[in-house]
Amino acid sequence: MDKFIRRTLEYLVHKFSRNPLAQTVGGTAEGEDNRDPNFKELMCQAGSEGIVLLENNGILPLEENKCVSVFGRVAHNYMYCGYGSGGDVRTNTCTSLIEGLRQSNTIKINEELAKFYADFATSKKGYIDDQVWGHWPRYYKEAKLTKSIVEHAKEFSDTAIVVIGRAAGEDRENILKAGGFYLLKEEFEMLDVVTKTFDKVIIIINAGNVIDLSWTEKYKDKISALLYAWQGGEQSGPQIAKILSGEINPSGKLTDTIAKNYKDYISSKNFGDQDANIYFEDIFVGYRYFETFAKDKVLYPFGHGLSYTNFEITPANFEIKNGNISITVTVKNTGKFAGKEAVCLYVSKPDSELPQSAIDLVDFEKTDLINPGEEQIIAFEINENQLTSFDDVGKTPFKNSFVLCKGTYEFYIGTSVRKTTKAGVFTQHETTQVKHVGSTLPLQNEITRLSYTKNNGVMQETTEIVKTELATLKQRILDNLPKDIPQTQNNYTFKQVLDNEITIEDFVTSLSIEELEDLSRGEGMMHSPLGMDGNAGAYGGISKKLQDKGIPAIITADGPAGLRLKRYGSLLPCGTQLACTFNKKLIQELFETLGKEIAAYGVDVILSPGMNIHRNPLGGRNFEYYSEDPIVSGKIASAAVKGLQTYGFSACPKHFAFNNQETGRNRNDSILSERAMREIYLKGFEICVKESNPKNLMVAYNKGNGVWCHYSYDLAQKILRDEWGYEGLVITDWWMQSSKSQEFPQMKNNAYRVRGSVDVLMPGGKHFFDHSKESDGTLIETYGQNEGITLGEMQRTAIRVLKVCKDKLRK
Ligand code: BGC
Repeated sequence: MDKFIRRTLEYLVHKFSRNPLAQTVGGTAEGEDNRDPNFKELMCQAGSEGIVLLENNGILPLEENKCVSVFGRVAHNYMYCGYGSGGDVRTNTCTSLIEGLRQSNTIKINEELAKFYADFATSKKGYIDDQVWGHWPRYYKEAKLTKSIVEHAKEFSDTAIVVIGRAAGEDRENILKAGGFYLLKEEFEMLDVVTKTFDKVIIIINAGNVIDLSWTEKYKDKISALLYAWQGGEQSGPQIAKILSGEINPSGKLTDTIAKNYKDYISSKNFGDQDANIYFEDIFVGYRYFETFAKDKVLYPFGHGLSYTNFEITPANFEIKNGNISITVTVKNTGKFAGKEAVCLYVSKPDSELPQSAIDLVDFEKTDLINPGEEQIIAFEINENQLTSFDDVGKTPFKNSFVLCKGTYEFYIGTSVRKTTKAGVFTQHETTQVKHVGSTLPLQNEITRLSYTKNNGVMQETTEIVKTELATLKQRILDNLPKDIPQTQNNYTFKQVLDNEITIEDFVTSLSIEELEDLSRGEGMMHSPLGMDGNAGAYGGISKKLQDKGIPAIITADGPAGLRLKRYGSLLPCGTQLACTFNKKLIQELFETLGKEIAAYGVDVILSPGMNIHRNPLGGRNFEYYSEDPIVSGKIASAAVKGLQTYGFSACPKHFAFNNQETGRNRNDSILSERAMREIYLKGFEICVKESNPKNLMVAYNKGNGVWCHYSYDLAQKILRDEWGYEGLVITDWWMQSSKSQEFPQMKNNAYRVRGSVDVLMPGGKHFFDHSKESDGTLIETYGQNEGITLGEMQRTAIRVLKVCKDKLRK
C-alpha cells in the first residue's frame, strides 16, 4: 500500500509540475536547423549493421516485389529510442517501419491491413500517453485482430511480418510482467492467428532491452525469420527494409546473451532492490556465467547473428614476441552475397589459482564488405595486460594486484562464443604480478560470491566469502593532498592564459576563494540561459566575476542518442544496436558526424556515451549502454569518444561506475568484490579513458560499496587519475545526494566531493533538484580548519575546469 501511495504521489507530482527533464522526443523545435542531410544515410547504415538476424530458414532476403502483410501497431508507432536523456532528441524525420517498407523499391505492403492499423493508431483506443517523466509506456496497446482480418490479409500475400515493441528508459526499469519483459495476451493472440494463417512469418523485435523470447520455441516451426531490430533511431524503417530486401546483408551480432528464461540470468536474484544489490555473480556476468556454468540455458549466445552469406574464419598466423601476441586471421566469403563479418578473439584462461570464466572476449574487428569468393586478413595485437586477472583475496602471492596466472592460455577466433576455432596457445610458466594497485573501494561487510571447484574435471558450483579490507582511505587522501599554490593579488585575465603570457596555474593564484568555489559547480539549472535553449546546464564562467575575467561558460547537452536541445537534432540508433555492429570504424565515423552537429549548435560537452554494463536484461537504460561485456563497451565507447572529439568538442562517458539499474537509481548501493569491479565494471571505462582521452567524465548517482560515486576518492582520483592517467574533468550526474564524509566528518556535500576529486557539481543548485544559482556554502565552510578543505584542493578543481575553458576558446 505504501508503495502504491508513493507511486501515485510521484505520478501526480510529475504530471502537474513543470518537470525540467520531461521527455519531448519528436517534440517541435525552434530556430535554425543545423542537421546535415547526408547524415541520414550513415545513421541508416549503422542501424542496419546493428540489426541481429537470429533465425532465417531461407525466406530472407525477400524475393523482389514480395508483398507482405504487416501486423503489430508498432510498425506504425515505431519505438525509435528508449526514454529519458538518452533518447530525447527533437527530430521530425523519423521513418516508421511501415513507411520504410513503403519507401523500399522492392517490397510491397498490404495497404488495406496498413490502413487498419493506421486507423487504430490514430483512434482514441490506440492513444499513446508518453508525456510524463518516468511513467512512459513500456508497450503500446495492441489492436484486436479478428480471424477474418487475418484471413483476408492472406489473400494479398503468403508472407506476414509481426512486430513486437517495447521501451524502457531512465527512471523506467523494464519489469517482469506482460507488456514488460513478457508478451501481452493480445500479442500471443496475434502470433497465434498469424502463424496459423500464414505459411511464412517474419518476427521483428523492436526493443532497447533483451526481452523474453522463450515463446519462439512454441512457434518454432512457424517462424521463418526472427530479427532483433532494437531501436534504430530516426532511420529505423529504412534500415529494416534494407535488411529484409537484401540491399544490406545483415552483420549484427548479439552483445548480450539471450537466455531461455529470466531466472537463468544469475543476476536475477540480486537485481532491482531500492537500497542495495549484492553482485553475487562476481565476474560471471552474461556469457561468462552461461559458458562456465549453464550452457544449456542459452537461447542465443553472445556474438550470435546470421548473414545471407557464409564466412570461413581461419587462423593464419600466431606469433609470440616479447610477451606480445600477434594473431592474424583470414576471413573468406564462401557464400553468394557480399557481406561483412565481425571477428571476435576470445581467450580461455587457465584456472590455476583463480576461478576463471570459460571464455573471455579479448578484442574484435569488423571486416569491410567482402565479395563472394574474396577474403580479408584481420590482425590482432595482444599484450599481457589484456590477459590479466585481479586477485583481490590473495590466492596468488600477489594480493590486490593484476596477475598473469600460470598455465595455458588458449586463443579462439570466431563470431559467437559458441562458434570458434583455436588460433594458438600461450603458456605462462609462473604466476607473475603485472601491477599492484592495493585495495580500492573495499567492501564494508563481507559478501558471498559465486565460484566453483573442479573434481576430476567435473565442475561444481560453489560459493566463497570475500572479506572486507581495513580502511586506509583517510591516510591515503592526506598523504596525497595537492599543494597550495600561494595566492597573489594579480589582476590576471584569462586572455593572458590564451596568449601564453601566463600559465593556468599562474592565473589560478589570482582567484579568490569565492571564485574558486564558483568554478567547482554548475550554474544551477538545466536549460541554462548561458547556452542554447534545452541544454543540460553550464559550468566554467558561470558568474559575472569569472565572465569579466574572460572565462567562458561551458555548455553541456545530452546525450547518447544525439543532441537533446530545443533544436532539431539527429536521432541515432540506440547504444546496444550500435554496439551490435561490432564496427569501431563505423561508430567513430557516425559520432564524428554528430560532432559537426554539436559544433553548429554551440554545445561544448555532449553527455555521451553511456557505457554501463548490462548486468541484467531489465536494466532501464540498457538501450543506451552497449553490452554485458566490458571489452565491447570500452572499445565501442572509445570509438564514440574519438569521433565526438574530432573537432575539439568534448565527450563525457557516463555513469562511472556501477549504475546498472534504474530502481532507486540515485540511492542504491552496488555491493561488489574488487575483482568484479576491476575485471567487469571498471574495465570498459579503463579502455575508453586510455584509448580515447575523454575531456569530461560523469560519475554515477549511486553508491559502490557504501560510498556515493560522486564522493569517491578511490574512483575519481586513485583509479581514474593515478592509475589510468586520466587528465580530464570529472562531473557529477545531475544533482547529488547530500552526505557527510566518513573519514572527515566535519566535511559534507561539496567539500566531501572536491576532496574526492570529483570536480564539478552539475547542474549546480543547493540541494537535489534545486535550481538556485547560489552555492550551499559547504565547500568553503571547513576552509582553514584542521583537515578541512584546502586551497590546493580547490585550485586543483579550478585548474581542471580552466583547461576545458581554454580548450573551448582555442577551437
Ligand atoms: C542522467 C544523465 C544525464 C543528466 C542530464 C541525469 O538524470 O542520469 O545521464 O546526462 O540527467 O540530463
